[in-house]
Amino acid sequence: MKITNICCIGAGYVGGPTMAVIAQKCPHIKVTVVDLNEERIARWNDENVDNIPVYEPGLGQIVAHSRGKNLFFSTEVDKAIDEAQIIFISVNTPTKTYGSGKGMAADLKYIELCARQIARVSKNDKIVVEKSTLPVRTAEAIKSILDNTGNGVQFQILSNPEFLAEGTAVEDLLSPDRVLIGGDTSQEGQRAIQSLVDVYANWVPRERILTTNVWSSELSKLTANAFLAQRVSSINAMSELCEKTGANVNEVAKAIGMDSRIGPKFLKASVGFGGSCFQKDILNLVYISKSFGLNEVADYWEQVIIMNDHQKRRFSKNIVSTLYNTIADKKIAFLGWAFKKDTNDTRESAAIYVADDLINEQAKIAVYDPKVDYKQVISDLNYLETRSDDQNKKLVTSYNDVYEACANSHAIAVLTEWDEFKNYDWQKIYDSMQKPAFVFDGRNLLDAQKIKEIGFIYQEIGS
Ligand code: NAD
Ligand code: UDX
Repeated sequence: MKITNICCIGAGYVGGPTMAVIAQKCPHIKVTVVDLNEERIARWNDENVDNIPVYEPGLGQIVAHSRGKNLFFSTEVDKAIDEAQIIFISVNTPTKTYGSGKGMAADLKYIELCARQIARVSKNDKIVVEKSTLPVRTAEAIKSILDNTGNGVQFQILSNPEFLAEGTAVEDLLSPDRVLIGGDTSQEGQRAIQSLVDVYANWVPRERILTTNVWSSELSKLTANAFLAQRVSSINAMSELCEKTGANVNEVAKAIGMDSRIGPKFLKASVGFGGSCFQKDILNLVYISKSFGLNEVADYWEQVIIMNDHQKRRFSKNIVSTLYNTIADKKIAFLGWAFKKDTNDTRESAAIYVADDLINEQAKIAVYDPKVDYKQVISDLNYLETRSDDQNKKLVTSYNDVYEACANSHAIAVLTEWDEFKNYDWQKIYDSMQKPAFVFDGRNLLDAQKIKEIGFIYQEIGS
């Protein structure tokens, strides 16, 4: 089937960038991204592309290139579904916060709503693509809903998980390591796979488009995230041992990363991984393993999360003990709130948990992040439900100017590895701080020698 009309349900961090790149690379395809969130859609349609809701280097230009030509953002979900030949489901699949599987399983209520809506609206055959990260065998549930509530039209379900990382989404989408497409082994299934392969083949070399059965595709996504997160927890575990033994984790990472069997990527020790995917997907993997009675498999992967929680907590504990075991009323400046550089996303950012610990000790937190505003900081803290909105607002402020954020502080904590942090006037910052002036570098980002020469007491992870 020649594809000329695509719809994507969910205009978030995945749906928005992915569809913008498809639209740019496939000018012959009309791409409509729909969402229930009117404010989000209005921001995607904002004339000034600096105001689109997802910050990603290069994304503004890509959106500007196609928007209004073959790329549309809309709240008219039914209309877009009706017109499309391929429907991507790219809605959120957060960890369940209620009922059975609470705190572990993926919450599939948004996925089911999409499936029911597609079934209700569709008047001709469609290919439905799981773009969201889903538990293995979810396609079965989607198929059952579509077949039992639809208008008798044929649906093919494909799994096409997204591997982009935030902060490099555009680059990742333009030249992906691979595109994975899972589908039914039947003839119709294979035809559906081919239709989607043909879309990607407009810019992705064929040998990088991998096709599998649906279950392998669904499970590969969870596996990829588990492996990546496991590397971060492994190096973070070694960082604690380095601190006790006089080894330096940066040197250890370099030494092992030069082994071509290990490789250099994802070996950067840090205050702990964050982001909307790693924790959620591993918890989901643990839950699935347990549900099959595979307790050893579940325990194995759960340890990645346990280690990550420990790393975040250990960072805040160290701040308290180094500042003479009391931080009540002390101002602590946070450089960075996003879970990594080059994104405005803060979901599961280590900064939130470190701040929560320090606020429990009654510290005053002053946040500076180039892309995150005060409203988001407070909303992230409120989400933890540790204390009231008023209490959070009393102890947490945020600044548009980094020098103001740091002035009069007792300590600075680097939580995100934004490049600009390296180039500040650190002498000026030092002069404006209480003495002794401490820097706790949760990203091993700053030039240790330079910072120490200025007079800071500087602590990094793993040395
Ligand atoms: P997101 O929260 O940024 O976006 C999801 C959007 O879906 C929201 O705007 C929400 O309003 C919308 N939505 C929910 N239900 C809807 C419905 N019934 N109809 C219309 N719109 C609806 O989420 P995200 O970060 O884009 O993630 C989406 C999926 O992709 C998740 O399953 C996630 O695990 C996966 N994923 C995310 C990343 C990432 O880096 N963020 C990478 C790979 C995969
Ligand atoms: C991740 C996967 O990389 C991506 O393939 C998937 O599609 C979605 O989940 P993302 O969460 O956007 O992407 O960013 P990623 O670069 O993986 O970083 C995740 C977290 O790990 C960040 O907090 C990052 O700072 C941290 N990290 C990463 C480290 O602490 N050390 C590293 O060496 C690498």
